[in-house]
Formats: sequence, C-alpha cells, structure tokens
Amino acid sequence: MQDDFCSIAVLVSGGGSNLQSILDHIQQGHINANIACVISSNPNAYSLVRAKQANIPTHVIEHTRYASREAFDQELVRTLEVYNIKLIVLAGFMRVLSNTFITAYPGRILNIHPSLLPKFPGLHTHQRVLEANETEHGCSVHFVTANLDQGPLVIQAKVPVKTTDNTERLAARVLEKEHIIYPLAVKWFSQNKLICLDNAIYFDNEPLSTHIILTTKHEIELQ
Ligand code: GRF
Repeated sequence: MQDDFCSIAVLVSGGGSNLQSILDHIQQGHINANIACVISSNPNAYSLVRAKQANIPTHVIEHTRYASREAFDQELVRTLEVYNIKLIVLAGFMRVLSNTFITAYPGRILNIHPSLLPKFPGLHTHQRVLEANETEHGCSVHFVTANLDQGPLVIQAKVPVKTTDNTERLAARVLEKEHIIYPLAVKWFSQNKLICLDNAIYFDNEPLSTHIILTTKHEIELQ
C-alpha cells in the first residue's frame, strides 16, 4: 500500500447511512481510499451490519464498560493502532471525544453535523430549527477539535425549511445533502486537496478563508 493511500476508520453509533454513502462512493471508484475498520459505540447499530456486508472489520467499544472518557478514548486509540489509519470519519458517533483521542489524530478527524454551524450545535437540531422559525437549514462537515461542534468548517450544504415541514421531513432533506458533502470532503482529504494544520484549513494548497458551500459544480466532482 502506498504511503499516502487513504486508510479510513469510521466511528458510528447508529444507522450508518453516511457510512454507506462513503462506502458506495469508494466501491464505485469515486474515492481512492479504503475503509479499514468500523468502530461502533453501540452493539446494536445497523452500521455494523452494513460494515459486515462490505467485509469491513468491525469493533464494538461501549463507553459504559469504561470508567472514564479517557479510558474509553485510550481503547479507541489502541484498537486503531494496528490499522495505520490516515483519516478518522465520525458518522453519527454519539460520544464526545477527549484530547486523548483528538491529539492522537491531529487534523485528521472529520465530523458531520446536521446544522449550519455555528448555528445549532448539539442535539435535536431539526426540532430546534423548526421551533426557531428558521427559513434555511443544512449540514456541515468540519475537522474535530477539543471544542464540541466548533472545529474548522470544510463544507456546508443548505436546504430550505418549508412551512409544511416536520422534523422527519426536514431531517430527510438534510440527510440527502449529508450523503453528498461527506463523501466529497473525504475525497478531497484522500487527494491531499484538503489539509488541516494547526486548526487552519488549506484547500488546493491555499488557506481556506471561508468554508465551501455545496453547488452542483461540486456534485460533479463526486463522479
Ligand atoms: C446524521 O444526521 C449526522 O449528521 C449526525 O447523526 C446522523 C447520523 O446518521 N451526526 P447516519 O447514522 O449516518 O445514518
């Protein structure tokens, strides 16, 4: 395997539709990378079924079995050691990572969040967007730092909020965009087009002063 080949670990806790989307793009040859393993914090996550169907090694690491956040994170780091991982992809991973984990993979952890950060960090974003009568919503891919949902932003996709929306309809509209921007960010990272150094993002070797907003031009890049 080449030194710069992008070996990915995906950390999950739930259904894994983002895992599936990245996997599909890899299998279709749109992303030159390999998902080396999937780690779930939840033994019942459907993500594990998806990974097994694709013959990807899986690990279950339940936080309830560890005395502290650090002990849980140390186990994550230990588990990943054998894989020579270049990129960590958090895809619906419902645990906050401590510095123990974050410093093990500096500038190499991506997360997807279902809101237009910095608006609506945290949980229940779709419900909160509806309650706040927002007219626009969306999703964000960002690098992970010690501050929850505050790491440097890479790309966002926007969707309208409709008067007929409920949380399910709105979540589905956002999820559709997640399945585009996450593979795209992973593709850019695997091409070394997207680099994060000391919490600053470089895109095509230039500092990225403002994050990217998804357009149809980008969607073509995913093919
Ligand atoms: C997505 O909405 C993601 O933004 C959030 O959790 C959800 C995970 O969905 N972090 P899935 O497990 O990838 O289907």
